[in-house]
Amino acid sequence: MPTIVIHSNGQTYTDEVKPDTNLVVRAGIKQFPYPNLRYECGMGKCAKCACQVLKGAEHLPAPNWKEKKQLGERIGQGYRLTCQLWVTHDIELSQDAVCVPPAGTAAAAAA
Ligand code: FES
Repeated sequence: MPTIVIHSNGQTYTDEVKPDTNLVVRAGIKQFPYPNLRYECGMGKCAKCACQVLKGAEHLPAPNWKEKKQLGERIGQGYRLTCQLWVTHDIELSQDAVCVPPAGTAAAAAA
């Protein structure tokens, strides 16, 4: 069972989940990491679920086109869209207190 560690709002939350788990789907049904994972669309369109992967990135597939579009150069800093990830191994994530604006927007240019 993968162990998930999430750093959010200065706190650290840890729990185990079933293999091949999507954390946004779980949060949507009020299971861990609810309510400590910010998300909105669940479809790779809003970037509100963006997290920096601190450990376990080697087990993730390459970023898909939605992640590339929303995160831009932040992918090189280890950011991923949590709604686009199905977790099969231990992973440690950090979600910024402030939402990562989608790449290519005026808000992203100002960040
Ligand atoms: S929840 Fe909107 S991009 Fe992940």
